[in-house]
Amino acid sequence: MQAFRAEFAVADEKIAATMISDLSFPAAAEARIAERATKLIQAIRAPKSGLGGIEDFLREYSLSTKEGLALMVLAEALLRVPDGATADRLIEDKLSQADWSHHEARSSALLVTASSWALGITARVIQPGETPEGIIGSLAKRLGLPAVRTATRQAMKLMGSHFVLGENINAALKRSTSGAGKLYRYSFDMLGEGARTQKDADRYFQSYANAIESIGKSAGSGKLPERPGISVKLSALHPRYEAVSRARVMDELVPKVIALAQLAKKHDLKFTVDAEEADRLELSLDVIAAVAADESLSGWEGFGMAIQAYQKRALDVIEYVAALARRLNRRFMVRLVKGAYWDTEIKRAQERGLDDYPVFTRKAMTDLNYLACARKMLAARPHLYPQFATHNALSVATILEMASGVTGFEFQRLHGMGEELYRALLVNEPGIACRTYAPVGEHEDLLAYLVRRLLENGANSSFVSVAADPNVPVSDLLIRPQVQIGSAAQARNRHIPLPAELYAPQRVNSRGVEFGHAAALSALIAEVQNSKLPDFAGNIIAGKRVNGPTRKLTSPIDGSVFGEVSEATAAIASDAMSAAKAGFKSWAQTPVAVRAAALERAADLMESRRGALIKLLQIEAGKTLDDCLSEVREAVDFCRY
Ligand code: FAD
Ligand code: 2OP
Repeated sequence: MQAFRAEFAVADEKIAATMISDLSFPAAAEARIAERATKLIQAIRAPKSGLGGIEDFLREYSLSTKEGLALMVLAEALLRVPDGATADRLIEDKLSQADWSHHEARSSALLVTASSWALGITARVIQPGETPEGIIGSLAKRLGLPAVRTATRQAMKLMGSHFVLGENINAALKRSTSGAGKLYRYSFDMLGEGARTQKDADRYFQSYANAIESIGKSAGSGKLPERPGISVKLSALHPRYEAVSRARVMDELVPKVIALAQLAKKHDLKFTVDAEEADRLELSLDVIAAVAADESLSGWEGFGMAIQAYQKRALDVIEYVAALARRLNRRFMVRLVKGAYWDTEIKRAQERGLDDYPVFTRKAMTDLNYLACARKMLAARPHLYPQFATHNALSVATILEMASGVTGFEFQRLHGMGEELYRALLVNEPGIACRTYAPVGEHEDLLAYLVRRLLENGANSSFVSVAADPNVPVSDLLIRPQVQIGSAAQARNRHIPLPAELYAPQRVNSRGVEFGHAAALSALIAEVQNSKLPDFAGNIIAGKRVNGPTRKLTSPIDGSVFGEVSEATAAIASDAMSAAKAGFKSWAQTPVAVRAAALERAADLMESRRGALIKLLQIEAGKTLDDCLSEVREAVDFCRY
């Protein structure tokens, strides 16, 4: 079967035009959706007992406050810090910026107070100007800074433990079969992603393999799709899981994934490849297609993948995956999510100077595409087993309406989120199966996952945070995505400029290339290959070529000679300086607009001849494609700046 290849970023307006009209329901169906969603929202809002949960915590430190932001910065910063001493200094720096103490008085939920306590005392010790309060202050003095730092880390752990089912697979398996855990199917996720070294990748592989064995041994005698499973992140399994390393990835990663899948097949478990960043989509589908087609896995119906509805290519992906399943005469278990890397995708597209975003920029567009994808997946049964992963009551109610009368699908939630919604779903909708995605692991592998959950819960547009706010009327939560969008012309978020317009009106952003889009990458490679290089480089003074001693140029890649350069001598350099000095007077009198236009022209010329420049950087300096493109773009940006 052909590889999955699709336009990287179709215009939002084009997608909206068909979706808005396609996803309206008859009045009676709309009424049923509203009624169902209202019941679910009421359940979410019912007074809770116990600890209050992470939703309380996040509302308390919502991202709109200084504290919420500092928390994000801290978590993200710690993620990148390799050594303890620097981590401590960062903690001190960040904690001294926020005033945590006032949170203590406002909430009695244990999570909030415990973290406020740990973070609050640190802030007080770090900022001697603040008066330490009562017993906590004296405790901090008595314990000293190291203990306070430990307390800070404890606070991070406390947050994390809410989202993690267990520190190891055995603890997680035990918890999954006790209390409310018994109501759910499970998909365990061994924390760990973005391996930077082969050693990390090997460690994560082992951790997946061990977990599959343990899950398999305790899986009981049920049949798929009820059986538990594992979720796997491909970025954990290869340190170069990136489009430019495709050949290596296919050679080295595919056998690893097949080996894990074989283990899962041995126990007849579910095995889902998580969806990660948009630039990895094509590559991930190449890997998935190669793994799925492996003979050793035939006859097993547990294999599957996650698909992100915030990506504009989501419907194409479903089509591709359904065609693959049909071709292999197999059923795939497919989890539909909205997508957890939205902020990253927006920033990355801007930083890379892409033509457009691969994800939607209005949340309602994602919500609507989620429904379009759900409908397509339901229609693709039995080749796909749809798994709708969402904590949004309106999305759930709409899908239940679309799926009325059919079987062969399930809903999914993340551990630590959506408890009330799913409790109500299990009670109100007998016969509907629900699965919990349960992260397993220790603190050191948690942070990337935790940051995504904090962003997701803290965003003021997120359903969980709006639904938890009693000041927002239920009717607001029932506004359909197509109504929120309005018309196709309003499909984009007008506050998010296209990457090229990031610095408008001052200047144009330099143009980049998405390496994760095979068509764009091969076009760039062809552009580089087809560029002709001059075979001689020399000194030009006042428009005339001046020859100095020549030297052959050899490439650091393979030592081959690719040209000649004429070096400057002291006399040539001196002539050049004199010529520059002589020219300065007229240059200084040249109007700014003319000088600026010269720089603009230089930028445009470099951009239009980037193939040749990249080729030169590669041959002469042995640079990678990524570095070469960045270097050309930097030069272009400098000129325009
Ligand atoms: P909602 O509040 O309705 O939607 C929030 C989502 O809308 C955001 O997460 C984002 O995707 C989108 N969004 C927010 N703002 C905008 C905007 N301005 N423009 C466009 N879109 C916007 N995520 C992955 O990426 N890969 C996975 O493999 C994965 N696995 C998961 C498994 C399970 C069981 C669950 C429950 C979630 C999983 N997720 C995964 C996370 C998932 O993407 C988020 O939980 C989900 O996006 C939240 O959607 P919602 O319907 O619960 O909430
Ligand atoms: C994530 O890791 C749940 O896969 C999703 O954020």
